[in-house]
Amino acid sequence: MFMSMVDSFEKIPVKIFDSINDGSRFMAQEIAALIREKAAKGENCVLGLATGSSPKTLYAELVRMHKEEGLSFKNVIAFNLDEYYPIDNNALQSYNRFMKYYLFDKIDIDPVNCYIPNGEWKKEDIKKHCAAYEEVLEKLGGIDLQILGIGTNGHIGFNEPGSSIYSKTRLVPLENSTRIANAHDFQNIADVPRLAITVGISTILKAKRILLMAWGQIKAPVLQKAVEENLTEQIPASLLQQHNDCVFVVDTLAASELTRFKSPWLTGDCEWTPQIIRKAVVNMALKLGKPILSLTNTDYNDNGLSDLLVEKGDAYEINLQVFYMMRDSITGWPGGKPKGGNPSLIERPEPFPKRSLIFSPHPDDDIISMGGTFMRLHDQGHDVHVAYQTSGNIAVTDEFVTRFLDFAVGFEELSGIDSKKSSQILKDATEFLKNKRISNIDTAQIRSIKGLIRRCEAKATCHYVGIGDDNIHFLNLPFYETGAIEKKPMGEEDVQITLELLKKIKPHQIYCAGDLADPHGTHKVCLDIVFESLRRLKAANEPWVKDCWVWLYKGAWQEWDISEIEMAIPMSPDQVLKKRHGIFIHQSQKDMVPFQGSDSREFWQRAEDRNANTADLYAQLGLTKYAAIEAFVRWHY
Ligand code: F6R
Repeated sequence: MFMSMVDSFEKIPVKIFDSINDGSRFMAQEIAALIREKAAKGENCVLGLATGSSPKTLYAELVRMHKEEGLSFKNVIAFNLDEYYPIDNNALQSYNRFMKYYLFDKIDIDPVNCYIPNGEWKKEDIKKHCAAYEEVLEKLGGIDLQILGIGTNGHIGFNEPGSSIYSKTRLVPLENSTRIANAHDFQNIADVPRLAITVGISTILKAKRILLMAWGQIKAPVLQKAVEENLTEQIPASLLQQHNDCVFVVDTLAASELTRFKSPWLTGDCEWTPQIIRKAVVNMALKLGKPILSLTNTDYNDNGLSDLLVEKGDAYEINLQVFYMMRDSITGWPGGKPKGGNPSLIERPEPFPKRSLIFSPHPDDDIISMGGTFMRLHDQGHDVHVAYQTSGNIAVTDEFVTRFLDFAVGFEELSGIDSKKSSQILKDATEFLKNKRISNIDTAQIRSIKGLIRRCEAKATCHYVGIGDDNIHFLNLPFYETGAIEKKPMGEEDVQITLELLKKIKPHQIYCAGDLADPHGTHKVCLDIVFESLRRLKAANEPWVKDCWVWLYKGAWQEWDISEIEMAIPMSPDQVLKKRHGIFIHQSQKDMVPFQGSDSREFWQRAEDRNANTADLYAQLGLTKYAAIEAFVRWHY
């Protein structure tokens, strides 16, 4: 689906699609049309290409079109934007390898037509190579169609904030935020190269047409800045406002901060549903630093909400409506309050106790994202089950696993055990790690040892909360077990494993990570698997499914928008501390985590900041001040 552009705030045309697949298909079709049009005229088609996570679906679609629809790349000349420096062309993280793996080796492009900056160039020769790169490009008549991604700091190519609009192909230092954002491709941040070779902004702006793609919530803030705010070298992508044929192709999540979605009442007529009213009033109250009940008619008029007053009456009544909505989202009873006292307006009192099933994509998401609620559910007598969806094995460092191997060797010596088999496992594992290079993928054996470490941590956390072994389920979903960052898509086996568990437990309520901004995409796949399983069970008329409610929490990276929260579980200072200690149990994830993402805080710090922040926002809106709040949104299916 593609929505039409609203141009009042947007200075670059934005095409919005429901999904990455739809957006990528749109781009692939445009690329294919251009290639064919040029081929028909006997001309070459010069494409500027990007790497990173964003274009993977696009390249897969181009490969499909090549295989199934006979799209030929014989007349294509590809110019890539960038490459790390220094890096081996064959290293797992090299963009040279990336392009071969995702595109060039799978289509009929002539390898001599594939230009990519080379991370193996000698440093003293780089200037010469960069100038030559520009020269070849110019001789070929420039780029016909440039494909771009966008960094969360607004970079295009590796043109970091501050890059000049006149910049050309050159060696650049990478911003720390970029190194952290890209650390997920490397074992740890120290391995991410400090430099890169990138084509310049002026090179990009010379392209005849530009398509920039952005997917996911994580890109939403920078996309809004690039599209709606003033052109500035501090947000390199905003410089594309100067190009006369540039389109941003995005999914609904990346578009979510655009004014037309964030504040639809500012860009035209808007239907005042209770949710939109809540969003408008809450945002205004926070912006003005006023409690909801103190907002006046003048505030509404001054902040673009006069239309709301015209439709719904006085500020006093609207304030009350929104205040009650916020108040009624707070409950100390995530499993519903048993009959007797004031009923909670959120979960049902019956049945009591409930069977609650928490899906945790990685072995620590349960405690990080909903530890307070997890403990409350157990303490309030519910039958709480936890399903750990993936092993989480790639997030254990080699140093950490070596410590455990050393322990195991010492333990064997101490116990006088001479089990040949286990000794061999230890020997193999130790040997492998000693000789491991950055570009090596862990063996299945190392992966299972790393997985075991995380499994023990998850178990210990459950015991700490009070959950017995019978209620702990390790699903080890197969889509995750590639040993690399790149995971397989959701498969039938993943759904079957999940279906089996659901049928066994027949939960009254389910919690899952409704987090779409997970840097490796694992949370999204885990969520899709649960959704697919529930849809199938519903279609099969499993009787318990109609009474099973699904609550979504956000993973470690983000929180729900305050105006979306449907269930807010407050925490006391003691509960905050208890949750912190529960997170500490995940020692393999402490201090130095591989694949940290763009946030350098530890998980317990992120969790505490985020829960305290939600509590602060409620207080700012004029509701009771709690120490911390965990937040949930209900998913209807
Ligand atoms: C990659 C490149 C970068 C990426 C950007 C977004 O060739 O030039 O500008 O497009 O860092 O990366 P992803 O797509 O991984 O979010």
